[in-house]
Amino acid sequence: MNIKKRIEQLIEKINEHNHQYYVLNNPIISDGEFDRLFKELEILENKYPEHKYSFSPTQRVGSKPITDFGTIEHQTPMLSLSNAMNKDELSAFHSQIKKRLQIDSVNYIAEPKLDGLGVELVYSDGLLLHGSTRGDGFVGEDITHNLRTIQSIPLKLRNIEKTPPLLIEIRGEVFIEKNDFIKLNKYQIKQGKQTFANPRNAAAGSLRQLDPTITASRPLSIFCYEIGIVKGYVFKNHLSLLKTLKLWGLPVNPLIQPVTEDLGIIEYQKKLEKIRNHLPYEIDGTVFKINNYSQRKLLGTRSRSPRWAIAGKFKAQQATTIVQTIKIQVGRTGALTPVAHLKPVTVSGVTVRKATLHNQDEIERKDIRIGDTVLIERAGDVIPKVQKVITEKRPKNSIRFTFPEQCPVCNQDTYKATNEAIWRCGNIKCPKQLKRRIQHFTSKLALNVEGLGEKIIDLLVDKGYLKSITDIFLLNKNKLAALEGLGSKSAENLIQAIEQSKTTTFSKFIYGLGIRNVGEYIAKLYAKHFSGNVDKFLNTSLTELESINGVGPIVAKETMYFLSNKSTKQLIKNCIDKHLLLKTNNKPKEEFLSNKIFVFTGSLNTLKRNQSKEIINDLGGKTSNTISKKTDYLVAGPGAGSKLKKAQELKVTILNEKDFLKIIKK
Ligand code: IVH
Repeated sequence: MNIKKRIEQLIEKINEHNHQYYVLNNPIISDGEFDRLFKELEILENKYPEHKYSFSPTQRVGSKPITDFGTIEHQTPMLSLSNAMNKDELSAFHSQIKKRLQIDSVNYIAEPKLDGLGVELVYSDGLLLHGSTRGDGFVGEDITHNLRTIQSIPLKLRNIEKTPPLLIEIRGEVFIEKNDFIKLNKYQIKQGKQTFANPRNAAAGSLRQLDPTITASRPLSIFCYEIGIVKGYVFKNHLSLLKTLKLWGLPVNPLIQPVTEDLGIIEYQKKLEKIRNHLPYEIDGTVFKINNYSQRKLLGTRSRSPRWAIAGKFKAQQATTIVQTIKIQVGRTGALTPVAHLKPVTVSGVTVRKATLHNQDEIERKDIRIGDTVLIERAGDVIPKVQKVITEKRPKNSIRFTFPEQCPVCNQDTYKATNEAIWRCGNIKCPKQLKRRIQHFTSKLALNVEGLGEKIIDLLVDKGYLKSITDIFLLNKNKLAALEGLGSKSAENLIQAIEQSKTTTFSKFIYGLGIRNVGEYIAKLYAKHFSGNVDKFLNTSLTELESINGVGPIVAKETMYFLSNKSTKQLIKNCIDKHLLLKTNNKPKEEFLSNKIFVFTGSLNTLKRNQSKEIINDLGGKTSNTISKKTDYLVAGPGAGSKLKKAQELKVTILNEKDFLKIIKK
């Protein structure tokens, strides 16, 4: 048989067996036979690289880790769902639909709401072109290299010979099964690595890897449930879409079923609530979607969620346990939070050891005492809460908790602002506050110093190496290497991470300062308003802050309070003058490359990839890691790979380094 034919035949066979194994859970050949086919394909492909197809099962894991995540725009926004918290709200949804559509009966498709990570897979002519996270709903991160490693995702759609869709955005949820999650955490412990708090975090962490070999080693699964744009194919309704996705080889949840009216909805809700703990994966509710597409169209969408669907939330999971003690936790803003330390108890597969008691009023209102048996609740990812005390079980020797008048860490007197329920430690130098402030300043959404975890920060503050957030820039390798449990290699990596963190944006820096009520969103508004000018920000006024659209009076007041402290102001100035290099993250004034999409392949001599990407972003352009019809330019350097070939096929403009530099210099 001719080589090309044999390779194609092997690909088809292996893909078929993968589908049987990973999607249908029904392997029809032994592992040994499968390995033999795979080996034969590998050998042939290595010998005849001209017949190496992107959809070959040998090509799931790319050869090199990527250096940075590109972005991918969703052609149809990835919306979220509005919630119904109980039966009444589900019935109200159904009544609204009937009223809006002026009909008496509605057919829905009922689905489990999977507790994973929403992703998008784009197939062009049946081939997986790229995949991304949901991101902000409009633009997601390009995680093609990682999604390709999920064996149940077909690299080439099945059964599309007669009617291949030209282009289709398929949406689904990536998750890790409960059993696989336990195994993964055990493995992490064995490897001395950090464990994951829950299956969702494990799935998210696995998809956000630069190195696809790590993702490939994680037991990720997917169920597909919606589509965005589709070209060259028409679906009759949602049920027929799901059937077609299944036919094309994509995993579709077997618990999906049609239901009618609110009775059908509520029955399904009850059924899933009953079986949720017995399912192999976590679900946090149900989703009800109108089956009929023209009805969906008539109803339309709100800004963030469609009117034709609703998520039915489950009641929070509960358990009873004993309050062994109550301790005060000091946060970065000095807030003293009482935390109940509980006898460990499992709630929906997660061991709960602590529950927040919020504040003194809450303890008094619920009359929670040490020794009490309490009912605790865990809703999704939220920190567990003590719902109520089972007073019948109160032991005679239960102890009332007395809120401390001094901070348990630094002994400074505590204070409570009028209209606030929270007691605070007012000592800005309180070591615990400092530790948490540094942790916040270096966290992912702020300066993102990789490898600087809670333990190391605590040690560094305790040793007196860190007395303010900016002291992290004064650390050196020797100081770090001397810390318990930190070898010289890790110390070196950490110094490098600190060095890299110095190039940041105004908004990340402001967010990292930890001003009360100033989250990521407000920090971005400030960045935009002050055009990245720190001096202007330091000298702002209450009136100016309140004039910013989206900034309310409380936020403005907190910001002014923060800035009224002279030493804080000095600290910010020092940080900017001596350590940081702030890039602008405003909408570029220069729209020279407005929305032009660049892809890179091969190496560049003058600029690093990251630098080139930043320049393109600053000029209003975008970058991606994959070539598609939407790509405007491919910048190809020596060692250019398959992207060059694909760009030629798709007639994308190809630039060498010189041309590229000319464009950006212009
Ligand atoms: S449909 C416009 N179906 O829930 C429709 N979403 O809160 C939006 N999710 O971002 C998605 N299971 O990540 C849909 N069966 C399901 C789902 C589901 C889980 C997630 C998804 C989405 C979020 C919306």
